[in-house]
Amino acid sequence: MSRILVIGAKGMLGRDLMKELQISFPGDEVLGWDIDEIDIRQKQDTVARIEGARPAIVINLAAYTDVDGCESNEQEAFAVNADGMRHVAMGVKRCGARVVYLSTDYVFDGKKGEPYREDDPPHPLSVYGRSKWKGEQYALELAGDGLIIRTQWLYGRYGKNFVTAILRQAKEKKILSIVNDQIGSPTYTVDLSRAISQLVRKIAGGIFHVTNSESCSWYDFGQAILKLSGIEEVQVLPISSSQLGRKAPRPPYSVLNTERFRKETGGPLRPWSEALKDFLYELEEGERMK
Ligand SMILES: NC(=O)c1ccc[n+]([C@@H]2O[C@H](COP(=O)([O-])OP(=O)(O)OC[C@H]3O[C@@H](n4cnc5c(N)ncnc54)[C@H](OP(=O)(O)O)[C@@H]3O)[C@@H](O)[C@H]2O)c1
Repeated sequence: MSRILVIGAKGMLGRDLMKELQISFPGDEVLGWDIDEIDIRQKQDTVARIEGARPAIVINLAAYTDVDGCESNEQEAFAVNADGMRHVAMGVKRCGARVVYLSTDYVFDGKKGEPYREDDPPHPLSVYGRSKWKGEQYALELAGDGLIIRTQWLYGRYGKNFVTAILRQAKEKKILSIVNDQIGSPTYTVDLSRAISQLVRKIAGGIFHVTNSESCSWYDFGQAILKLSGIEEVQVLPISSSQLGRKAPRPPYSVLNTERFRKETGGPLRPWSEALKDFLYELEEGERMK
């Protein structure tokens, strides 16, 4: 029996990933830590705690994920997303484990005009993107055979996300304004968790892009959420990113090419619209059970 350690286990992806790993690796011990158990900004403690736990694999999801907050807290963004990963990599190296780091499409500037491959040079526009790119470099350079999984536009049961925000706003407003000049692939944390588990099982290394397949704008995504939820009385207006005026710049087109993942595992993740249907059904079931 070996031990898999998930750091950031109480976050949106972490909660689904813990469930998935417990199902996929029944003979192994799956350990989940979050900020209450380990603060990855603390170098000595992080290295010692990981070394003491003697895991075979460490999956680091812990991050400062408030993209706009990162713009005004650059030091904190790098302390968690970059230096935190460095400390985790140092602990991983001490016990001869393998590391998995979750990264983002925001390492790209979104100007390529076609889906990004793993070997396209990053050029982040935001502090969040720069800090995550630095984290990637630490994972690859310090921990040996590291696995980087870049993903995007996550939603799931256990965190604040675009889908639940749209459903909440639809209860409060008659008209929603949503940006139509950013294109990506919405990705369900349950599907991503399965994909992470597959890559861990394959002992894959290097960078992989993993998202649900097909792409859309946030505006299209918002419309699909309302339509699939049977909400007809709310109107959606397309607006530009500059009209929304967010602090952090976002890449206009950051669809990720997932060919390498498909080749490694034998298939792509399902289209985002199918995954969304399942998620909305799960949400409804959850409401009914309350
Ligand atoms: N969400 C997306 O759309 C998206 C897209 C691409 C990539 N990713 C990446 O995927 C990973 C998971 O994302 P997520 O949306 O599940 O994030 P999340 O819900 O914010 O979860 C991250 C977890 O890490 C914890 N954490 C924060 N600082 C920490 C520290 N110093 N030490 C230990 N734990 C700490 C957080 O605790 P608190 O909640 O108490 O801060 C939270 O429980 C992240 O690495 C993120 O960068 C996310």
